[in-house]
Amino acid sequence: MTFDFTEEQLAVRDAAREFAQKELLPGVIERDEQQKFPHEQVKKMGELGFLGMMVDPKYGGGGMDTVSYVLAMEEISKIDASASVVMSVNNSLVCWGLEKYGTEEQKEKYLTKLATGEIIGAFCLSEPEAGSDATSQHTTAEDKGDYYLLNGNKNWITNGGTAGVYLVIAQTDREKGHKGINCLIVEKGMKGFVVGKKEDKLGIRGSDTHSLGFTDVKVPKENRIGPDGFGFKFAMETLNGGRIGIASQALGIASGAYELALKYSQERKSFGKPICEHQAIAFKLADMATQVEAARMLCLKAAYLKDQKKDFSKYSAMAKLYASQAAMDISVEAVQVHGGYGYVKEYHVERLMRDAKITQIYEGTSEIQKIVISRSVLKES
Ligand code: CAA
Ligand code: FAD
Repeated sequence: MTFDFTEEQLAVRDAAREFAQKELLPGVIERDEQQKFPHEQVKKMGELGFLGMMVDPKYGGGGMDTVSYVLAMEEISKIDASASVVMSVNNSLVCWGLEKYGTEEQKEKYLTKLATGEIIGAFCLSEPEAGSDATSQHTTAEDKGDYYLLNGNKNWITNGGTAGVYLVIAQTDREKGHKGINCLIVEKGMKGFVVGKKEDKLGIRGSDTHSLGFTDVKVPKENRIGPDGFGFKFAMETLNGGRIGIASQALGIASGAYELALKYSQERKSFGKPICEHQAIAFKLADMATQVEAARMLCLKAAYLKDQKKDFSKYSAMAKLYASQAAMDISVEAVQVHGGYGYVKEYHVERLMRDAKITQIYEGTSEIQKIVISRSVLKES
């Protein structure tokens, strides 16, 4: 057993750190305020290989491992969680499933463009009436022979306005329950497909979250991913990996808030000494450092198991559950360490606190992670 990273993994981490400092930090406050999608920055992320990190180079990807992905996600999320959710969705919710289960034609047509960031992707499972209860899909994909007729609504879709390709989960045969669900590749511009309203959010305000409407959209049969009825299983398997991405996003928010609090506590003086020399503040730093380290270990363990092709679903749920709580706890305390300065935008920690909350909600709420973990431990016992 070793805790050392390879030179390649460290190089990826350093490149992500440099990119985040140079390209994401300037303007991050304005993008948050104005709910501005980081178009230019996402384009550069594509050029640097951050949007298809784990995809085989023959499809335009970086051919990297999941550990490298965690390291890069942490660095980018420290600075801009709105940019990192674009990265997470594209890498682990869109590219991964297309590479694993797509046909050669689907990979040629879509994956090559997604992996380089020429287009970005969206993953569309949630509906107005189906969030945690993901099997109760109202969107229908009626089998019409050589095409599916897609009808219904999705909401909360990350990259909803910006994506070019959407993986849409829909019910084909209601009698078969979750075994009657399919996943279809829908292109922007298909007749009957409308991008709906953009949500005005508490955090990750630079990311565009939209509802989507489908009215009699004819989706060719060749756009189905996997065999008939595989859509729900596909979504669950995809989310197992996706949760490593969001756990790493939470880790980045947590470590970013911790690093800001540490630095500020060494500079700010009260009662004649730096505030870090007051035990009340020093102990907060100790708690933060411990939580960051524990969150990082869980993210890396899930990533390592995935790279080893072992079952990692319990660990990705644990990583997301723990890291998202750490992001909340640490960002709240980072604001406290900054006192009044923490409450204004200039010092970044208030944004990290707002951004942290979403990590406990999307890709399965914390309550859902506990369902996944408890089912797994009970099955093992
Ligand atoms: N991995 C693989 N397969 C899984 C699985 C997993 N983690 N969880 C369930 N399945 C399979 C089951 O094995 C079962 O298949 P079989 O019948 O063939 O065995 C099938 O899926 C149905 O499973 P359950 O009976 O356990 O289904 P359930 O109705 O009890 O629900 C659930 C299970 C875990 C709660 C699931 O509905 C769930 O994960 N809900 C949360 C949805 C979610 O995470 N949404 C995220 C949307 S994307 C997003 O949010 C992106 C973003 O923000 C950026
Ligand atoms: P509900 O399922 O209604 O849950 C409400 C509350 O009840 C939660 O606290 C939940 O934990 C609890 N609860 C529900 N069922 C149980 C249970 N069985 N046991 C215990 N507690 C339970 N979805 C996508 O498909 N693609 C995306 O790209 C995407 N991006 C998102 C971006 C943002 C900014 C947001 C806010 C959401 C996004 N989502 C996306 C949707 C997200 O995955 C759902 O919001 C989430 O899964 C929860 O579903 P819900 O909002 O319907 O809440």
